[in-house]
Amino acid sequence: MDSETKRSSFTGKIGFILAAAGSAVGLGNIWRFPYLAAKYGGGIFLLVYIILSITFGFALMVAEIAIGRKTQQSPLGAFRALDKRFSWVGILATIIPVLILPYYSVIGGWVTKYMFGFMAGSMGDMANDAYFGDYIGKVGEPIVWFVAFIAITTLIVIFGVQKGIEKVSKVMMPMLVVLMLFIVIYSFCTLDGAWAGVVYYLKPDFSHFSIMTVVAAMGQLFYSMSLAMGIMITFGSYMKKDISIEKSTHQIEIFDTGIAFLSGLMIVPAVFAFSGGNESALGKGPGLMFITLPKIFNTMPGGAVIGAIFFMMVLLAALTSAISLMETVVAVVMDKLKLKRWSACLLVFGACLLLGLPSALGFSAWANVKILGMQFLDLFDFISNSILMPIVALATCIFVGFILKPKPLVEEAELSGKFKAKKLFEIMIKWIAPVCILAILISSVLDVFGIVKI
Ligand code: PFF
Repeated sequence: MDSETKRSSFTGKIGFILAAAGSAVGLGNIWRFPYLAAKYGGGIFLLVYIILSITFGFALMVAEIAIGRKTQQSPLGAFRALDKRFSWVGILATIIPVLILPYYSVIGGWVTKYMFGFMAGSMGDMANDAYFGDYIGKVGEPIVWFVAFIAITTLIVIFGVQKGIEKVSKVMMPMLVVLMLFIVIYSFCTLDGAWAGVVYYLKPDFSHFSIMTVVAAMGQLFYSMSLAMGIMITFGSYMKKDISIEKSTHQIEIFDTGIAFLSGLMIVPAVFAFSGGNESALGKGPGLMFITLPKIFNTMPGGAVIGAIFFMMVLLAALTSAISLMETVVAVVMDKLKLKRWSACLLVFGACLLLGLPSALGFSAWANVKILGMQFLDLFDFISNSILMPIVALATCIFVGFILKPKPLVEEAELSGKFKAKKLFEIMIKWIAPVCILAILISSVLDVFGIVKI
């Protein structure tokens, strides 16, 4: 850390939780969770996700925050400070945001486009089935919105006005929750066939279970809670010693999972209502939210205004997450290349444009280019979520469980009082999590290379 980025502390408990929640709650909850839940079996996916969240997710988040607070360093320095042989974990963790930010911005661009679309009165068009596919199939426009999203993020990071954004999001997040609740209730009361979707989403059906359900749920867990990529280590390094790591983790977890749950409830039943429960509609993937929501708004009185407000809040949630992704990368670039903030920001901006372009073009000009059967956006998503994050998570567990031993981290967590789930933490981090992560990692690799179909 150089003098320009002197490590400061969050002003208090609420400051820490809000910043961490701002990073955690984003497109992962609102865009990614519902399409995975729809695709991977509804209720059974939800059940697996919740179990993983209160076991793995909890243990990993406590470990990461405690590592950060104990070493007072970002991931790059933290692993090196604790054991030189594990420096590579810090490096890998730092690479992950570099891979995520570009394609995250492509989707951020879609959200921006939809917000302006509602404002400009194109709701009727956007409610058509073919609209989204036609839109991302164009070469020019999606790129313009992608560049706009990444430019806004960069400007915020250059001028260091994150604090202002956090203040706005403090007000907007509760509003987003209320709006989502309203949309859920509205669809249940007015859309025929939504109930079948509620059953699909809430009732675990074991015949829909496959290893891919667990692979997808675990990748989503890391992504949604900003785990296994060093973010929580960085946040932990800013956290004051008298704040309870355990309680904060629970709060972030509940908030993050709550919003994801609500997004699923908003989108999955509506998919049923509009498609008559057609399986192919459930498997729509990344476009699901953009195809389904305009249809709901289109049936609502005042839907254009409500839709515009909704997408504005989603954009804000996406921005707070993108800012935390960019800030981590910029901090490393400043440190390593000894650059000033604005030059580091411009460098990261340029790299993002280059890396994001294939994801943006993957639905239009480069639609025929497939690697391992995936378009670029899916490929970046797969490499980061299903390969690199499990590797970092596994290495973190082995490191904490056997090299460092859980004790120093338990002591760190106990600085602010009793650590109630200490036993769960120790058993999870040492035994259950590493074995499961390894099994999942191997099966997802075998699956994608077509060696075993799971
Ligand atoms: N957790 C964010 C989301 O759910 O949208 C995505 C994310 C943000 C991941 C920041 C990682 C990160 F550092």
